Amino acid sequence: MPLLGVNIDHVATLRQARRGADPDPVWAAVEAQLGGADIITIHLREDRRHINDDDARRLRSTVQVPLNLEMAAVTEIRNIALQIKPAMVTLVPEKRTEVTTEGGLDAAQQVHSLRAFITPLRKKGILVSAFIDADVTQVHAAADAGFDICELHTGPYSNVAPNRHTEEIDRLRLAGEEVVNHGMQLNAGHGLNYANVGPVAELPHMAELHIGHSVISRGVFIGLREAVRLMRNLINY
Ligand code: PXP
Repeated sequence: MPLLGVNIDHVATLRQARRGADPDPVWAAVEAQLGGADIITIHLREDRRHINDDDARRLRSTVQVPLNLEMAAVTEIRNIALQIKPAMVTLVPEKRTEVTTEGGLDAAQQVHSLRAFITPLRKKGILVSAFIDADVTQVHAAADAGFDICELHTGPYSNVAPNRHTEEIDRLRLAGEEVVNHGMQLNAGHGLNYANVGPVAELPHMAELHIGHSVISRGVFIGLREAVRLMRNLINY
């Protein structure tokens, strides 16, 4: 049964609409935990468009489940990660103009620089995950660079019509097998929702699913605690 990581960035996005104090992502983290979240995820972007440094610190000291910090491979954010020591860091590509993370990390093009980048994090005992496309070349590169975990990008699966889901699930399964064969943990995320999460949750060896937008959106209407509880029940197959 996979664990559920709930990404609460969108709560900070709503707060930034007025640049005030509400809604507080720390409150969101509490509600998500009460609903059964196993992990809280935040993305500290270089442009600080939603989660800021203060949120990251406050969440680190209040969240009672592991904190997963998503970040680009930039030294400034790594320094913050080394200070606050989340349980896990997920490296993602980041573009200033994107609405959300677009593709996976191109690990194959930067094995050596990624290895150098993640070494200080791993030395501090932080697990490091690579957010990559479901592509065996990328999986091999992530293993060569020394990542502990691969989070396979489920955006392509989420974006195709349901009649192409089997094809995309097969790609995820093949890449997932390579992840596990290389001794890494298998996670997945992006674009997962209440309608499409089932087949991804059932993939062999799936350890964690990282879900944000669909859960926060449902939470607007039924409350975040209940929205997390419903998602938790769906992945408890
Ligand atoms: N995993 C990663 C690496 C992400 O960057 C995101 C988006 O922040 C998610 C999972 C969650 O995606 P979504 O908000 O579409 O559920």
